[in-house]
Amino acid sequence: MASDWSPASLARWLRVGQTVLYRIQERMGVKGMRTSARILRSLLGFSLVLVLLSACGGGGEGSSGAAGGEPLYVIKFPHVTAPATPKGQMAQRFKELAEERFRGRVRVEVYPSAQLMEDTEAIEALAFGEVQMIATSLSLYDRLTPKFQVFDLPFLFSDLVAVERFQRGPAGRELLGALTEHGIQGLQFWHNGMKQFSGPRPLIAPADAAGLKFRVMESDLLQAQIEILGGSPQKMAFGEVYQALQTGTVDAQENTWSNIYSSKFFEVQPYMTESNHGYIGYFVGVNAAFWQSLPEDLRAGLTATLDEVTLWGNARSEAINVEDRQRIIDSGRSEIAVLTPEQVAEWQAAMRPVWDQFRDQIGADLIDAALASSRPRE
Ligand code: SIN
Repeated sequence: MASDWSPASLARWLRVGQTVLYRIQERMGVKGMRTSARILRSLLGFSLVLVLLSACGGGGEGSSGAAGGEPLYVIKFPHVTAPATPKGQMAQRFKELAEERFRGRVRVEVYPSAQLMEDTEAIEALAFGEVQMIATSLSLYDRLTPKFQVFDLPFLFSDLVAVERFQRGPAGRELLGALTEHGIQGLQFWHNGMKQFSGPRPLIAPADAAGLKFRVMESDLLQAQIEILGGSPQKMAFGEVYQALQTGTVDAQENTWSNIYSSKFFEVQPYMTESNHGYIGYFVGVNAAFWQSLPEDLRAGLTATLDEVTLWGNARSEAINVEDRQRIIDSGRSEIAVLTPEQVAEWQAAMRPVWDQFRDQIGADLIDAALASSRPRE
């Protein structure tokens, strides 16, 4: 039998290889999953080139051809937090509702806990169409747009209600389109919660942070925030934080109650400070070319499903964080300090210079719009 070495045929074989790798991943530990995920990503990249070369149509990556009928659209959706977190629950609910409502037309493959890739890789993979949907922290986009840094200005938002008001207002809605030139379309913002500090000693006054090595997300603003406190910031992927805290590669970190609990940071951080000094939330984005390749009714239906899931999940995120805070207390492993208003004012004053450092990049108008959302309504 003559061999078929056409690009379309090679691409088909690579897809078979991709499926086999997924099966292998299912039987391996997390470390092995990451290694094979790297192989998988290379295969996907190669197969994408071949598919483009073959110009065989069918919706590109994200759709698996169905002989004669409409393709089955596959949405690969990697994220880094545990399934029980606000993001984990929303991703899973989106999968369940989408697959139920569009049976046989769409499959959503959710990969939690950084099983497939870490966040910065996911942003790249989305832009290249290797995955179709992500919900990565807003803090991670400063290489693509300076605007999302507004969400990281310390003590800008008073609470999640203020964040929600800003995100639903005109300035927030405009931000969803900030990455279109990079081939990424924003669909929604998802909440996690407000950030708290944790460390090897009580962090009651800003001076207590001096000299400590803090893990921060890949963000220049968050790096500056720690430097201003006299700490030593270390940018690090989420999946590496537990071990880094355990081995002393870093001493301290900032995160939400939900992430601190579900990723077990409380086991290796004896002191927490309820500082509420910042926000962790997510930009839910899709690969724009993939999204536009969907049939109009499917795209509209998935958009409506995502809107519904966002309302459901954002309304629950606060409660999930409150429950996880209590679970940390119940564990007896970590002590939570609640700051007095005077102590909070000290942290605010100490961290305020970050605003001056980043105001021009972010834009004063955007900061003002965000500030307005924290003011009490008349
Ligand atoms: C996340 O919530 O997705 C990750 C946050 C972090 O990297 O600390």
